[in-house]
Amino acid sequence: MARSGLNEQLAKIQSLKENFHKEIEACTNPREIEQVRINYLSKKGELNQLFSLLGKVSAEDRPILGKKLNEAKNNLNDVHKQKLSYFAEIDKKKERIDTSLPGRAPFPGSQHPITQILDEIKEIFSFMGFEIAEGPEIESDYYNFEALNIPGDHPAKEMHDTFYLDSGMLLRTHTSPVQIRVMESQKPPVRMIAPGRCYRKDTPDASHSPFFHQVEGLCVDEGISFADLKGIISIFAKKMFGEDVKIRFRPSYFPFTEPSAEYDFTCVFCKGKGCKTCKGTGWLEISGAGMVDPEVFRFVGYDADKYTGYAFGMGVERIAMLKYGINDIRYFYENDYRFLTQF
Ligand code: DAH
Repeated sequence: MARSGLNEQLAKIQSLKENFHKEIEACTNPREIEQVRINYLSKKGELNQLFSLLGKVSAEDRPILGKKLNEAKNNLNDVHKQKLSYFAEIDKKKERIDTSLPGRAPFPGSQHPITQILDEIKEIFSFMGFEIAEGPEIESDYYNFEALNIPGDHPAKEMHDTFYLDSGMLLRTHTSPVQIRVMESQKPPVRMIAPGRCYRKDTPDASHSPFFHQVEGLCVDEGISFADLKGIISIFAKKMFGEDVKIRFRPSYFPFTEPSAEYDFTCVFCKGKGCKTCKGTGWLEISGAGMVDPEVFRFVGYDADKYTGYAFGMGVERIAMLKYGINDIRYFYENDYRFLTQF
C-alpha cells in the first residue's frame, strides 16, 4: 500500500477517535455508554475493523499504523472507563427513592411542656383578674435582694448564690424582684403575676437545675388578708390539678413576707394516702408565700398603714413534673425528641 494509504488510515483512526469522544460525551446513562462501547470497542466494532486493515499496509508502515491503533484503543478504553465511573459516582450519591414507601409526614413541632404549663398558669390567674408582668433576667443586687429586705450579709442569701457579671449585676435568683419593679411603677391596687426564668449556682440533679422558671404572685390593696391568699392558692390548685386537691400552709420564713408560709398540695399521685413521691406524707411542697412585709412597702413608698398584701411564688418545673409525672428536671432541657413529643 502506498504512503497515501497510510495517511488515509491515520485520518480514519483520528476521525474514529473524534466520533467516539463525541458520542460518549453525549451519553446520559450507562445503557447508552454500553451501546457506544459495542459500536466501537467490541469484536465487530469499528476499531477492530481498522485493526483488520493492518495486514493490508506495507511492512514499513505497519508498525506506525499498529502503534497508532494501539494508542487509539487505549484512549478509547480509558475514556469509556472514566465515563462509566462518572455515572457510578452519581449513582452512589443519589439517594435511592422507593416511590412505593409512604411519604414522610411533615413535623409541625409542638410547645415545650414548660411553655404549656406557663400558659396554663397565666390563664388561671388572668381569669382571676391578675395582670401579667415581666422583669429582666439580669438584675441588680438592689431588686434581687436589698429591696426584698435581704441585706448584704443576710443568711437567706446563701440559698440564692448566683452568677455575677463584671458590672456587678447578677442573674436573678427568683421572680420576686418583679414585685418591687411593679410596685415602684404603680400605686395600689396591684394584682399581678410575673412568670420568668431564674438562675442559681446549683449543680444539676434530678430536682435541681442552674436555670428554672418561677411565677411570682402579688396582690396589694386595702384590707387584703391571709384568707385571700389561701383562697387564691386553693382555686389555683383545683384548676391546675383537679377539684379533689387540698392545700395546706406551714409556717416558714422569708425576709420579704411576714408572716411567711410554705404551701403544699395533696399528693397528685396517691391523692393524699402517702406514696414514694410524697415520701409517705400525702403532701407535696409547692413553694413559699406570705403577707408582704411592711419593710418592703417602705422600699417602694407604699403606705404600710393603709395597704396590706400577699405574695407567693411557685416553681413551674415542679408543677409540670407533678402534672405530667416526670421524675427528673433535666429532661426539660435536653431537647430530646422522644421526651418532647409526649406533650
Ligand atoms: N422567692 C422565693 C424563692 O425563690 C419564693 C417566694 C417565697 C416567693 C415567698 C414569694 C413569697 O412571693 O412570698 O425562694
